[in-house]
Amino acid sequence: MSYCELKVEEQIRKGAEIIKKGGIVAFPTETVYGIGANAFDESAVKRIFELKNRPYDNPLIVHISNKDDVLLLASGLSEKSWRLIENFWPGPLTLVLPRNPSVPDIVSTGLPTIAVRMPSHPVALKLIDYAGLPIAAPSANPAGKPSPTKSEHVRMYFGDKVFVIEGETYLGIESTVIDMTSEPPIVLRPGGLEIEKIKSVIGNVIVSTIGVDELRPKSPGMKYVHYKPSSYMILLTGRAKVKDVKEHIEKRQDIKRLVFVMTYSDDERFKTYVLDLLSGYDIEFVFAGKDEREVAKNMFDILILKSRTCDAIVFEAVEERGIGLGVMNRLKKASDVII
Ligand code: TXA
Ligand code: MG
Repeated sequence: MSYCELKVEEQIRKGAEIIKKGGIVAFPTETVYGIGANAFDESAVKRIFELKNRPYDNPLIVHISNKDDVLLLASGLSEKSWRLIENFWPGPLTLVLPRNPSVPDIVSTGLPTIAVRMPSHPVALKLIDYAGLPIAAPSANPAGKPSPTKSEHVRMYFGDKVFVIEGETYLGIESTVIDMTSEPPIVLRPGGLEIEKIKSVIGNVIVSTIGVDELRPKSPGMKYVHYKPSSYMILLTGRAKVKDVKEHIEKRQDIKRLVFVMTYSDDERFKTYVLDLLSGYDIEFVFAGKDEREVAKNMFDILILKSRTCDAIVFEAVEERGIGLGVMNRLKKASDVII
């Protein structure tokens, strides 16, 4: 075991102790960083909501390290649910299932259902094992902000208010969430597991464009924001439309520094064209990746880090296929304008 692994091993043991005592811990999963607590400890779970400033009507996902532990949290699973579990756990798939009464209301914000997933990340699995209990964990960001994919993002968000276990996430976007209490099942959030793969195992599913947190009625003016970077953001759905970017940013006096995020190709001629078109602005080009998978991995890192140094981000869209569907779901919510 290398020195680094040993250090992480110690961190996992410490994290498990904190969780057992009712504390909260940030840890890597294969999707994004989570911030977790004992799912059966109501006051520990409440502390997550407080720290994140998360609205009390947005339910959490509970993480387990053994497939059979799903029965600690849910009952009456359909045959299709078991098939998904057999095929895709551990992995980036969250199932919404009928909730056991032993799970505190706060975890699923009073809904009769509970969201469960078994992550595949070795650090997450060990943490759950060592703690010996299911861990309720949303993404480790303040409500409304982009999800963290690196430990440094979690530290930027929460400083030393939370113990952070080091590690790497792999996919960069959150799990796919599917409501298995409806027939056909409803995909509430596209994510790390492609919908095509789910269909290949259970047949037809409905894809909802709005998740449960957006479906619940809100008081006027209280509609939640998601994934918002700290700068203005434009989603560009085609290079041919880049002239419209100029029009939008010219309306805003506060924009001087721009980060232009390119996808699929970082073509020099296009860069020159943009520099020419937007002369007068200070522009940094960033390449997000050659395909949807690479863009998924880099997207939140770019939104979190680059928005600190610029006034506006222009992000090029990706195709809404495979994991790209999840990428576009996040980018659309993050944007102020879609061109
Ligand atoms: O990949 C992930 O899923 C990450 C890692 C940490 O596991 N977690 C994550 O959690 O993204 P969070 O809290 O950021 O997103 C949970 C999503 C929300 O959209 C929430 O509304 C939905 O799951 N959800 C949770 N419980 C639900 C339920 N009972 N019914 C419907 N939707 C639910
Ligand atoms: Mg989240």
